[in-house]
Amino acid sequence: MIVTPDIQQVRNIRHADPTLTWGFVPTMGYLHEGHLSLVRQARAENDRVAVSIYVNPTQFAPHEDLDSYPRDLERDLALLRAENVDLVFTPDDSIMYPPDFQTYVTVEKVTQPLEGASRPTHFRGVATVVAKLFNIVQPTRAYFGQKDAQQTVVLKQMVRDLNFDLELIVCPTVREADGLAMSSRNAYLSPAERKAATVLYRALSQAKVAFEQGERNGERLRTLMREIIEAEPLARLDYVSVADRRTLAELDEVGKGALLSMAVFIGKTRLIDNMLVGEEG
Ligand code: PAJ
Repeated sequence: MIVTPDIQQVRNIRHADPTLTWGFVPTMGYLHEGHLSLVRQARAENDRVAVSIYVNPTQFAPHEDLDSYPRDLERDLALLRAENVDLVFTPDDSIMYPPDFQTYVTVEKVTQPLEGASRPTHFRGVATVVAKLFNIVQPTRAYFGQKDAQQTVVLKQMVRDLNFDLELIVCPTVREADGLAMSSRNAYLSPAERKAATVLYRALSQAKVAFEQGERNGERLRTLMREIIEAEPLARLDYVSVADRRTLAELDEVGKGALLSMAVFIGKTRLIDNMLVGEEG
């Protein structure tokens, strides 16, 4: 496994044999089973696998957790070695954002609601860094988690609009035994908060059951989830949504399917989670 912060070295390895397919998993490190599930799918579907580890400052607002974001490079590299990863790209800020950096990628409509409403500069940072990573690694396929549902919608839009020559693949959310979606940010939770954090999964599951039992009113589904969150003393709701899975517009009437999603503060830690209900496609 080659570990390098050097863009030219990544390009040389990538283009050494043009007949090989490359799967790519971009991450911010502090890896868990969610990240590793993406790596395993990339491993199964490609000749070579590249992973990037980079805590991207442009997707954090000034008041957010950039400085405290958990990091453990040695542990991450041991996990990736065990998954037979070929290449790990570990740039730093001086490589990704040199002092004269001045070009950003702005995806318009689908970045406005949900996460974009609470974190207005977040997706500009995500789209910019992922566009750079795609240009550096030039993967055949790139793997992202359904955990960050809006991120997958935004990046699919970017791939279409900017004609990136790759296939973007979305992998299912990996959960702890009690339903909590795995996240590097779960490391911030105290034991009491960790217990309370299952409220996101409970609220989404109950709304999913209501949908399956025939509830098609978007506002009633949102209210159901809101009330479950509000009953948890350690939780503070940021938003709850029942939206079209492609446009992310809020739905009054849920037709064949929808994206249920939410952001909730558990203490100071902001967690997100989602579930798709109804028909795929
Ligand atoms: P990060 O939060 O490290 O996540 C890296 C990838 O792992 C993302 O595609 C994310 O959706 C996926 N992932 C995280 N938790 C998951 C879970 N429980 N189950 C399945 N997949 C999961 O997302 C980012 O980093 C950044 O925004 C990035 C794309 C790297 C750009 O900086």
